[in-house]
Amino acid sequence: MFEAATIDAADSSEFYAELARQAQGLLAGERDFIANAANLSALIFASLPDLNWAGFYFLKGDTLVLGPFQGKPACVRIAMGRGVCGAAAQQRKALRIEDVNAFPDHIACDSASRSELVVPLTAGDKMLGVLDLDSPKLARFSPADQAGVERLAAIFLAASDAP
Ligand code: SME
Repeated sequence: MFEAATIDAADSSEFYAELARQAQGLLAGERDFIANAANLSALIFASLPDLNWAGFYFLKGDTLVLGPFQGKPACVRIAMGRGVCGAAAQQRKALRIEDVNAFPDHIACDSASRSELVVPLTAGDKMLGVLDLDSPKLARFSPADQAGVERLAAIFLAASDAP
């Protein structure tokens, strides 16, 4: 008998391998940063269960500005360092928040959100922005989800001409 965690990790790894193949295919032949961000947010939102938001914020000056996304309308500007998105951008590391209500500086764009995964986007030394996923389920995102979404972000960056 396998432990549930083992099965989940194996399933997840196959799931994200397939999603990575789909992302490669979807973005192949197109280098436009915004168009590819739009299509990747749509692919993620349509493919991952239990999401209420998936999309991008791009750094302009010292502010993250809303980019292409799927889900309800969201906050447009987030100062560097603020909220989960701003913290991930400032620290340049992915943040996986099991309970957003326990994250002191969480910015509640949609009160339905319970957990969040934010992956920073960089090109060399340059901070470009973040890829943000929200879920109405507590602790929706596992380390395997984080690794899978980081891979999708890397595919997006390699496939697109950064501004
Ligand atoms: N919750 C985020 C703000 C962006 S929305 O979730 C789309 C944050 O705390 O940074």
